[in-house]
Amino acid sequence: TEAQREFARNFREGKIQPIDPTIPLYILSSIAILLFTVVGSNLMQQFLAPRDPSHPPVVLHYFPWFGSAYSYGTDPYKFLFKCRAKYGDVFTFIMFGRKMTVALGPKGNNLSLGGKVSHVSAEDAYTHLTTPVFGKGVVYDCPNEMLMQQKKFIKHGLTPQAFQTYAPLIWQETHQFFEQEKGFNVYPGPKSYEAIKFFSELIILTASRTLQGKEVRAGLTSSAAKHFEHLDKGFTPINFLFPNLPLPSYRKRDKAQKAMSDFYLEIMRKRREGESDVDEHDMIAALTGNEYKDGTPLTDRDVAHMMIAILMAGQHTSSATSSWTLLHLAQKPLIFKALFEEHRDLFQNEDGTWEDVTYESTKEMPLMAAVIRETLRMHAPIHSIYRKVLQDLEVPPALAAGGNGSRPYVVPKGHFVVAAPGVSAMDPKVWPDADKWDPFRWLEDKGMAQEALDSYSGATSEQIDYGFGQVSKGTESPYMPFGAGRHRCVGEQFAYLQLSVIMSYIVRNYDIQLLGAFPQTNYNTMIVLPLNGYVTFKKRGQSKWILSTK
Ligand code: HEM
Repeated sequence: TEAQREFARNFREGKIQPIDPTIPLYILSSIAILLFTVVGSNLMQQFLAPRDPSHPPVVLHYFPWFGSAYSYGTDPYKFLFKCRAKYGDVFTFIMFGRKMTVALGPKGNNLSLGGKVSHVSAEDAYTHLTTPVFGKGVVYDCPNEMLMQQKKFIKHGLTPQAFQTYAPLIWQETHQFFEQEKGFNVYPGPKSYEAIKFFSELIILTASRTLQGKEVRAGLTSSAAKHFEHLDKGFTPINFLFPNLPLPSYRKRDKAQKAMSDFYLEIMRKRREGESDVDEHDMIAALTGNEYKDGTPLTDRDVAHMMIAILMAGQHTSSATSSWTLLHLAQKPLIFKALFEEHRDLFQNEDGTWEDVTYESTKEMPLMAAVIRETLRMHAPIHSIYRKVLQDLEVPPALAAGGNGSRPYVVPKGHFVVAAPGVSAMDPKVWPDADKWDPFRWLEDKGMAQEALDSYSGATSEQIDYGFGQVSKGTESPYMPFGAGRHRCVGEQFAYLQLSVIMSYIVRNYDIQLLGAFPQTNYNTMIVLPLNGYVTFKKRGQSKWILSTK
């Protein structure tokens, strides 16, 4: 073309200069020198600078500020076990400028989870992440003493009477989900669902119908679902590390928080002014009208923010647990069969009809409970728990001796102290066949599992009232999927109910099969999730696999 000819002419006449090859080389070598200097001086500082022997050892890292963020973030278990082998049970690693002091094992868990409010703070560790999502005035945006009372109010909505009404609601929602929303009864009707996506939908439907009430469940088909999605995207490790970035996801999070909060306010207004016919045992009903010990009322805005917190607290934790449970069951058909037999013996009448699954009956399913427990042991949705150190924290010598052998280690004020219950639950020094999914270990009268349960919730656990009723302290158990101490989860029983009813529905009605390999773990989310886990379902009594989740 004419343009090409003109280009060739100009080039021959030297009017067009080739790019100076020395420029990129110059830039590259400058970057290399800079990196070399930064890494070199960082390493020299770690090797040569005298270390305070009363401080725990610092994990060797190449880059200052970033520290060990990559190794911890991509596989925390591998990283923590490796560090334990090198540094012992107490060590500090750097993560984006934060000093994270890990204390491993049951004694380590006790150091932070059993610590005094004046020494360690969950509020200071989490508020920058949670307050923009939940809203102001609740959970970690208020003094610890108020959170303890808020947990007491939440427990009003989690009574056995409430659970009795929740069980059939969870069953109905699950039935509707399988039969109508997914159309699983229509052959061929396959749709593509990954286990975690599948359960994320089912968990929010069942949790909203029970805990949140009819109006919220109805709202999930409209704009509330979008708001929830935007809130959820504001609850990621990036938000934990960088609370406020000028990014669309942060702006959407803030808009969604306001919209969700207003949505709950409107529900409360309608209920109060008699414009609603809802009269249920849900959480809104349990929370409204409460006051703190000093007479301060819990406002509608507080209730709205607590409702958001509850929705978020149970969503990924239970979706992850149900997904892992189903994936393991799909991989182990014999255990799935044994679970079906347990279910059949409990619920099938002689004429072949089935009894309803009730709250009481969920407590009579030992294998079901064992399956959920074992899944939580291997896949604790929250593997690490953080607290900010408010004043120097002395490490008991029984946990780790100080660097010079005489003075105990001190975790300095300003560090984060990290409990890693996931590591204790997978520790091969504690658990026989730690990395084997074996629900039957929980059915043995004696042994590690029974001991761990006793110290978590049973005979050997100290009972304490932190302000939300008598609970097992449980901070020295090697098994604590629901946390321990004053921040222990109040949703544990609800989670067991929800998971037991959903799994019972599946066991009664479907056969399952794992598609492809057992999934890897995704650690890039706040809650540990399966990465690409697919299962197929077949309705019992039918010969064809009707749903491929792939
Ligand atoms: C606290 C796990 C379900 C509400 C916690 C903690 C853990 C946990 C580990 C302690 C956090 C810390 O110490 O920093 C789980 C798991 C669940 C689950 C594994 C399901 C399998 C739920 C549900 C609800 C809920 C369904 C609501 C009904 C809470 C609340 C706290 C909490 C209010 C207290 C936070 C605090 O005191 O700081 N949960 N949870 N959780 N969870 Fe859950």
